[in-house]
Amino acid sequence: MNHLSTRHLTGIRDLQEQDIHLILKTASEFKEVINRPIRKVPSLRDLTIANLFFENSTRTRLSFELAEKRLSADVVNFSAATSSVKKGETLVDTVNNILAMKVDLVVMRHPHPGAPHYLKSQVNTQIVNAGDGTHEHPTQALLDAYSMQERLGDLQGKRIAIVGDIRHSRVAISNILCLQKLGASVRVCGPKTLIPKHIASLGVEVSHDLDATLAWCDVANMLRIQLERQGGEEMVPYFPSLREYQARFGLTSERLNRLDRAITIMHPGPINRGVEISSDVADSEHAIILDQVENGVAVRMAVIYLLAGVR
Ligand code: CP
Repeated sequence: MNHLSTRHLTGIRDLQEQDIHLILKTASEFKEVINRPIRKVPSLRDLTIANLFFENSTRTRLSFELAEKRLSADVVNFSAATSSVKKGETLVDTVNNILAMKVDLVVMRHPHPGAPHYLKSQVNTQIVNAGDGTHEHPTQALLDAYSMQERLGDLQGKRIAIVGDIRHSRVAISNILCLQKLGASVRVCGPKTLIPKHIASLGVEVSHDLDATLAWCDVANMLRIQLERQGGEEMVPYFPSLREYQARFGLTSERLNRLDRAITIMHPGPINRGVEISSDVADSEHAIILDQVENGVAVRMAVIYLLAGVR
């Protein structure tokens, strides 16, 4: 198969196992392209893409924009904070006005879970979800899977731990769905208050013991405590204090040194240094955090290129 089975990427749920393998294989071809002296291909010269960001982003926004430009697409960027959304324009009106300017594909980050699904039912364009609230972040899961494969080879049977604020994490849900399709075993680990009860129904193990989880896994994907979804830094109702969270669930070199083998450390960013991960671990040779960011461009090139093939 050399084309995707879907026209949109609203979540990993849209993808079959062979779609994921096709995206990862195509991404490795694009990774070779972006490491050449001339990092561009003319593949999508006829495509115009709008990146709509209704929520803050550094990695995803710049990575999509670079991916689109490396494919020679025309790109327009929209930030809700400086748009007519501030004057009360609806999401559907906003997107229909952008589409009237002959835009072919929309990449959207939105704070509300399900926003890309709603938009898909209301407007006539292809949609890529760049993160919708606490729901899904499919391209993050794909770039994470690509980065794990690069380090560990085939993910079949590999043990992946996702640690931290699972309750508020779209990265966790998309990673679980993607890794399971690739045959990996997934365990989530964190305080009881930050692991929603429904997560076990996805077929993952649940642990509240970080040391036991580190001894079990090949990869620890450390998630950020999302204080902005918990009422801000003054209010931490899900655990007593950041200091206590760090003591029980923070990844430190002391913890890693107690293991009998090295494990791979990941983090989707942005990092809360000294909370879920110590600075020395984040900057260590076992951490592939910046590889994840590099691979994000190649993976997003693959997603856009393949979606453009099913227009
Ligand atoms: N990983 C990630 O989604 O980062 P940004 O919020 O900076 O895009």
